[in-house]
Amino acid sequence: MIPFFELFPMPLIHLHKTHSTNTWLRELCQRQNVEAWTTVLADFQTSGRGQRGNSWESADSKNLLFSFVIFPDFLEASRQFLISQIISLGIKEELDTYTENISIKWPNDIYWKNKKIAGILIEHDLMGEKLCRSIAGIGININQEIFYSSAPNPVSLFQITGKQYETVGILKNILLRIQSYYNDLCMNSTDSIEACYKESLFRKEGLHPYKDVNGEFFARIVNVEPQGKLILEDENLKMREYMFKEVEYLSI
Ligand code: BTN
Repeated sequence: MIPFFELFPMPLIHLHKTHSTNTWLRELCQRQNVEAWTTVLADFQTSGRGQRGNSWESADSKNLLFSFVIFPDFLEASRQFLISQIISLGIKEELDTYTENISIKWPNDIYWKNKKIAGILIEHDLMGEKLCRSIAGIGININQEIFYSSAPNPVSLFQITGKQYETVGILKNILLRIQSYYNDLCMNSTDSIEACYKESLFRKEGLHPYKDVNGEFFARIVNVEPQGKLILEDENLKMREYMFKEVEYLSI
């Protein structure tokens, strides 16, 4: 019998336990040449890293915890949001095959209804004006039954559907979906990527509560610009523009 991992379509490194797959892969890239799409998969992380310096909780061997590396040296650093968009879309579209109500919460959280099912941490390295390396780390809650940390609103595929899943098959499909979008990016077909991203947005319709440095307000999403800026129109029809972390989504 051929071991399952030998059939995997990209180089796959499976670790039982590591500090963080992003850190592990970065250290590997610093020591040696690493092929594009090399993927590091861990059963457990002792210091899983999230956005804004947060940690990422995941029970041992229950979920998907992985990082992969690409070298998008054709892409201006100012267009790095496209990498975020294609990764979000790959995850969202794979999760769509298991359940309804998956969306992308700007800029790149994956939601089921109003709960977070997956998070993405992308670390770019630049060479002048261009990207030279991107390490994308992804945590997807698949089979976890209970969450204990203070993460505000986690949910797993098991909690949604009541079923357990074989995680490596889901990983393979996600990577192939992201690769397909990446090929579009290489061909400069960015319009369709941006259109799919906007179509997939959490709260893409209607007025919802938000908070910025000046306080709370209701607004609707008008656009996400190519560089990632979120454009909201508030109840008084005033346009408000935000870069990452400048606005908070509130729940009612
Ligand atoms: C977020 O805060 O939403 C991003 C979470 C990213 C977590 C993943 S798990 C695999 C990879 N390794 C890490 O240390 N973080 C990412």
